Amino acid sequence: MALFRLDGRRALVTGGSKGIGRAAAQALAELGASVTLAARGEEALREAAHQIPGSHWVVADVSTPEGVRAALEAAGEVDILVSNAGGPPPSLPSEVTEEGWQRGFETTFLSTVRLAQGALPGMRARGWGRIIAVTSLTVGRPALNLPVSNALRAAVTNHLRTLALEVAADGVTCNTVAPGYTATDRLKALHADPAQAAALATRIPARRFGEPREVGAAVAFLATPEAGYITGQELLVDGGWSI
Ligand SMILES: NC(=O)c1ccc[n+]([C@@H]2O[C@H](COP(=O)([O-])OP(=O)(O)OC[C@H]3O[C@@H](n4cnc5c(N)ncnc54)[C@H](OP(=O)(O)O)[C@@H]3O)[C@@H](O)[C@H]2O)c1
Repeated sequence: MALFRLDGRRALVTGGSKGIGRAAAQALAELGASVTLAARGEEALREAAHQIPGSHWVVADVSTPEGVRAALEAAGEVDILVSNAGGPPPSLPSEVTEEGWQRGFETTFLSTVRLAQGALPGMRARGWGRIIAVTSLTVGRPALNLPVSNALRAAVTNHLRTLALEVAADGVTCNTVAPGYTATDRLKALHADPAQAAALATRIPARRFGEPREVGAAVAFLATPEAGYITGQELLVDGGWSI
């Protein structure tokens, strides 16, 4: 039998219309999974679904319980959950407002908790499931200007490690993929000055930004049957930055 196939598996990829989420959806589809993309903006969803064979899409804001419910309902029985969304805006730690913390908590942390909660009963009943959250290399290596991301992605990581303990015997794995600097719209927004972006790239051991497809491939690998004994782990895709 061919390695790394996902034929017959159903995946839900939130934040699936752009960047890393879209690349993960593409990789899962290439391995044979049928994929539902969820995001807030309809136009980008349509465009992404057009490029990803056999994919479906749903407009859903995963920072709300209603949005999570809509995404899960549209996806049906989910075997592979990829929890991903936009990152919190940059600011200094002392300047994050109460509202900024709340928004980050809902978008980054509660979205993953709720999505996993909704997908788990079916996964456990079928004895097979993959829960994968896209986090960041800033887990354990905090970036000064991303305090909300630093705090809440660490929370996501430890939540999935704890959940992994509970569900490992049910055939369900829980892991995180932690990207380093990856050439997406978010990176372009955070590092809009080309000279600054080039200077940053020279500090990465690989001397370049990652490609979204390189992070997407790591997500897809963790979803495969061959990765069934990997759980509670963080897979860094960062060109060597964390070394
Ligand atoms: N790129 C990097 O260098 C890098 C590095 C480390 C970590 N990360 C993290 O990896 C994740 C993905 O990053 P990216 O660079 O691929 O970002 P991106 O290009 O901005 O894409 C974000 C995706 O998430 C969707 N989204 C945002 N908020 C959402 C919400 N509330 N509900 C549903 N969908 C939502 C967006 O579509 P809509 O806006 O239409 O909803 C879009 O599809 C982010 O959390 C980011 O912080 C990225």
